[in-house]
Amino acid sequence: MADYIYTLETRLSPDQQKAVALVLDAAKAAGMNLYLTGGAIRDMITGFPIRDLDFAVQGNALKLQKDLERAGSVVGDADDETRSLLLTLPGGVRAEVAMARSEKYDKPGKAPQMAPATIIEDLRRRDFTVNAMALSLNEGSRGLLMDPFNGAADIEAKVIRVLHNYAFLEDPSRMIRATRFTTRFHWPLEERTQARYESGKENNYIEYIRSSSIGYEIEQLAYEDDPLSILKAYEREGWLKVLNPRWSTAKVDAGGLSALMKTRQQMNELGYTPDVAPAVLYFLTDRMGDKDIGDLRRAIPRKDLVEAWKDLEDNAQSLAKRLTGKEAATPSRTWQLLSSARPEMVLFLAITARNQAVAQKIKNFFTKWRQVQQKIPLPEMTELRITPEIPNYSKIANDVFLLLLDGKLRSRTETLRYLKPLSPPPPPPPPPPARRGRAAKAAAAAAGVGPAVPVAKAGAKKSVAPAKAAVAEKPIAAEKTVVPEKTISPSPAPAKLAVAAGVGKPSERGSAKKPGKPAKPPKPAAKTKTSPKSPAKSKTKPKAKGKKKGR
Ligand code: CTP
Repeated sequence: MADYIYTLETRLSPDQQKAVALVLDAAKAAGMNLYLTGGAIRDMITGFPIRDLDFAVQGNALKLQKDLERAGSVVGDADDETRSLLLTLPGGVRAEVAMARSEKYDKPGKAPQMAPATIIEDLRRRDFTVNAMALSLNEGSRGLLMDPFNGAADIEAKVIRVLHNYAFLEDPSRMIRATRFTTRFHWPLEERTQARYESGKENNYIEYIRSSSIGYEIEQLAYEDDPLSILKAYEREGWLKVLNPRWSTAKVDAGGLSALMKTRQQMNELGYTPDVAPAVLYFLTDRMGDKDIGDLRRAIPRKDLVEAWKDLEDNAQSLAKRLTGKEAATPSRTWQLLSSARPEMVLFLAITARNQAVAQKIKNFFTKWRQVQQKIPLPEMTELRITPEIPNYSKIANDVFLLLLDGKLRSRTETLRYLKPLSPPPPPPPPPPARRGRAAKAAAAAAGVGPAVPVAKAGAKKSVAPAKAAVAEKPIAAEKTVVPEKTISPSPAPAKLAVAAGVGKPSERGSAKKPGKPAKPPKPAAKTKTSPKSPAKSKTKPKAKGKKKGR
């Protein structure tokens, strides 16, 4: 049997793993069984990136809200009807925690009757076989995969199959979802599912779609890796007008969207993981009117996403303003400002900034300035014992980087001159090797260490003082061994040092400090100020679009 817990742990990001542990703790504390379900299990088996975590609990998920919030989660929506929570967990991990429930449809277009249920019953209410699996996270059955509809086989066969013949009639949003999954995975609908889908289209089942499902599907678009291709497929299938009658692919800023995804990729490669969803919605609706945008926003259940979308332009504009002010007068200050800004804002501004100076600074931040890191003389720093083991290593490395960035350290010699006074004193040499035998005993006796043992005769060779004690109590003062400096600190690989220094790493965000005052400031610094000419006057607007104001 496959070890699904192992697969899960290797496939989840560290933040997602923490999120699973956090939800598990909350469920345990409330005495509820917890299962990971839906897309996470599908993606875990297929190898596609796990985008979000869907949990089912046996019990009222709303009861976990307080615990989860205390642990740093943001609740985007709490639905009393389904007793589910839409969450953003620490590290930006999206999750849904829902009560395991059964659904019974009396009439198309009417909300199903819901009741608390077992996990197996919960799987029966789901859309496609590949999404109807659950992994137990509970003691005793941890790692057990529940797959009552043989979803794993359909994953293997790469097909999308509904669970029963009434699937599209009961929940017409499944037709939209079918289009989304077939487009994303390039998996076809299984033959009978395809026939049901066609029939659903012909018979206009979609008119029975529930408004809550419309909002949910609009939201899901924001998290697609290639939202434009999904939008095109929706348009082709007639679903886009269901989401909003005035939405079309012509309303999309395709250039902006593709730049967004490209820049996101570059940022990912540098270790940043911005949440692009708000910006995706911005570009997908770029040419829509305010009223339609308002309608879309009201429909989306996840309120933190809507707020982030609304604030996007204003926040980017204020960052642009700061980037043209005193706060960003030098490369090092600009670096610090951009390092501490939210990556989402930097990303959005990178694409929408109209002010050349702002665009250039962001470009430098992602490219040219990062190369300056190569100039940090890591091997020499190791020789000076400035290594990650010392407490102020990160600060020293960061200060050197910032000075290099501003051209205040222009050569290796200058950099070393700056670093030398910061070199910590050499550590004491190691204790001498333990002496054994008579010599040690004699030495110990001579030093008066150990139990007072009568010495038979002066100069007698026999001594009973314990050698170890002698070494322990009389350490290095008597030793004259000098350990060559270079060999004192083991030198970690330079690359590792750079990482340890945190220079330019996203993890350094917010912690970048002003260059500390060196013991002796580098002389040439005064002469070689590289501050850009007062950019404070230049006006910056991220893509001035009057119509977008107040969205
Ligand atoms: N689901 C369903 N019917 C719907 C919506 C959701 O059965 N109309 C169930 C499915 O089991 C689905 C899970 O809820 O897998 C989570 O929904 P969602 O997050 O929308 O889809 P995922 O399958 O997780 O896919 P992804 O997040 O990758 O888009």
